[in-house]
Amino acid sequence: MEDNDEDKNKTASTIIEMLKEAGVSTHSLEEKEHKFWDTQPMAHGEKGTELPEGPVVPDKKPEEIRQEPYNMPAGFEWSTVNITNQEEKMELYTLLANNYVEDDDSLFRFDYSQEFLEWALTPPGYSNDLLLGVRASKTKKLVAFISAIPANIKVQSTDQLKVVEINFLCVHKKLRAKRLAPVLIKEITRRVNQTGVFQAVYTAGVVLPVPVASARYYHRSLNPKKLVKVGFSRLNPRMTMARMVKLYKLPDQTRSNLVPMTKDHVDGVHHLLTTYLEKNFKLHVNFTAEDVAHWLLPRDKVINTYVLADNNDGAVTDMVSYYHLPSAILGLDDTLHAAYSYYNIATSMPLEDLMRDALILANRTGSDVFNALNLMENESILEELKFGKGDGNLQYYVYNWNAPSMKPADVGIVLL
Ligand SMILES: CC(C)(COP(=O)(O)OP(=O)(O)OC[C@H]1O[C@@H](n2cnc3c(N)ncnc32)[C@H](O)[C@@H]1OP(=O)(O)O)[C@@H](O)C(=O)NCCC(=O)NCCS
Repeated sequence: MEDNDEDKNKTASTIIEMLKEAGVSTHSLEEKEHKFWDTQPMAHGEKGTELPEGPVVPDKKPEEIRQEPYNMPAGFEWSTVNITNQEEKMELYTLLANNYVEDDDSLFRFDYSQEFLEWALTPPGYSNDLLLGVRASKTKKLVAFISAIPANIKVQSTDQLKVVEINFLCVHKKLRAKRLAPVLIKEITRRVNQTGVFQAVYTAGVVLPVPVASARYYHRSLNPKKLVKVGFSRLNPRMTMARMVKLYKLPDQTRSNLVPMTKDHVDGVHHLLTTYLEKNFKLHVNFTAEDVAHWLLPRDKVINTYVLADNNDGAVTDMVSYYHLPSAILGLDDTLHAAYSYYNIATSMPLEDLMRDALILANRTGSDVFNALNLMENESILEELKFGKGDGNLQYYVYNWNAPSMKPADVGIVLL
């Protein structure tokens, strides 16, 4: 949501930062007790910086890894989800559509589409064993979920690290606050360890021990009338709706000759993207060409990627991409159509022009708002392109890895 009242919306982490800047001791505030997370191999606060960069605990030998699954409370059982099976995909969709992330005021809830879920959970190398659900033993209803997909990342001075990306942690509303989430996290960790992987990357709105970076969402209104109507944005006292509509109006045509990415562009995009990420960021994925094809080839209402190719040698010089993650507008039978900035690289034009074209393209296909984190080079275009600051932070974590924290501009990973 747009941050309409900055002071009211200061998150704990921003307040801690402000106190630190003012020279006030924040030790007691930061040392909030985490019954579960304090038992996990995370670099804890100041102590973390004393450890060398690398794993907090060493890799386990196969015989040191627990063989049997963690116990579920009576009445529940583990069940992996076959996401390419239509029925099971629908079950996961339904669990998330009713129980996944909401904003603080419960006005909106993420509504990841079934096609999106299949895309997000089936990259090269994915395994059904790591798409982990919990079912009620009697009814077989899916009541909780967590996923891990493989990736290879660079983090700080470690160029190649095999990790998983953890996502879609969800416990049914009726089963909350029963300490199920820690069991899900421990079981997925055990399964991931069995594949010889001991680190993970994940993001969360909440502050847990200990973020490696803290990013902020920004929102660019495309359909201000609807955004105000549904409570996403507010009309400032000195603004009329007509002026607001004019302020955010975009041309129909893009300035550049961007074209939708096709299979023919995979190698060009792979070269452009990997070179760019390696050169500029402390935390990024080392994409293979196969990964690029999976994550960036356009899929209807899921992911759009546009490229500009050099006329002479066919090399891809610029790319822009965004994914579609609608939110249900709770209470109203309506959907907020949101496009989320993914990976964008401008070499033949200013980034601002490229991103303006992305706004135009997203607007043309019915997105109500375009969201971007202040990662990578995004900070440089947010103001000029009329993005407004959102009301929450997104924390980045690397499980079982001690590394100095970094600025959002050092982060080159977007998790879905
Ligand atoms: C997040 C969610 C699974 C937590 O389950 P819960 O029933 O609220 O909490 P539980 O009693 O099972 O577990 C509490 C523990 O989980 C931790 N936790 C809460 N949210 C977490 C998150 N997003 N990631 C990792 N751990 C989380 C808590 O910090 C707590 O551990 P601590 O005592 O060490 O601090 C649940 O609230 C949910 O489904 N929320 C909606 C979807 C969502 O926000 N998912 C996370 C997206 S990042």
